[in-house]
Amino acid sequence: MHAASPLYEPLNTLKTVAPGLWIVDGPIVRMAALGGSAPFPTRMTVARLADGGLWCHSPIEPDTALFAAIDALGSVRHLVSPNKLHYAYIAAWKQRYPDAVAWASPGVRERAADQKIKVAFDADLGDVSEPVWAGDLDQLHFRGSRAIEEIVFLHRASATLILADLIENFEPAKLGTAMRWIARLGGVLDPDGKTPLDMRFTFRDRARARICLQQIMVWQPRRIILAHGRCYLENAEAELRRAFRWLG
Ligand SMILES: [Fe+2]
Repeated sequence: MHAASPLYEPLNTLKTVAPGLWIVDGPIVRMAALGGSAPFPTRMTVARLADGGLWCHSPIEPDTALFAAIDALGSVRHLVSPNKLHYAYIAAWKQRYPDAVAWASPGVRERAADQKIKVAFDADLGDVSEPVWAGDLDQLHFRGSRAIEEIVFLHRASATLILADLIENFEPAKLGTAMRWIARLGGVLDPDGKTPLDMRFTFRDRARARICLQQIMVWQPRRIILAHGRCYLENAEAELRRAFRWLG
């Protein structure tokens, strides 16, 4: 008997989601969850912009073969931290791609300073698409939480919504018994993945969050890429209504 593997193998390999859009599954990181620490599989998203530059969302742990595969796609121009928990490897990627712009999410500079992790961010993500990728990606600052706010993106050509932690969706078969219970308690067990419970508690301004969700619905996404767990590759609008029913 083998222990359940939480990984999405093959790792460090570009997997095509749509033309000009890839995901890369990475190794496990340990993150705080429900008062303890839990193993999280990691996933980054790569989009090729109209100008040929590569946009890298939530870069995973550096890997030589991955760098080679990415170099074959184009030049890395943007390294995006979508929220203050997703930034750990930006410094390492910036070292490999010094000309890329490292984009900060709300609160990430403070969080990195707290954790004594040095990241030279170049720019801050705003509430609307940055002019450099406005032709390729829609962008929204998802507000309403007093603790963690995420910048969400839509890859417009493929109508793919790109999230980090606003929805997590861990597959039971990939978890051991204890983790399965933790994921169930946290409301992040596939197929009913949602915003993790501890993060939901921080949403003091639900009206604000509902407006953000409505703005996402206006985009009419067809699929949703997640950073943790199984992505929702169809019925994105129905999945969003289901996943955010806690917002009321
Ligand atoms: Fe995360």
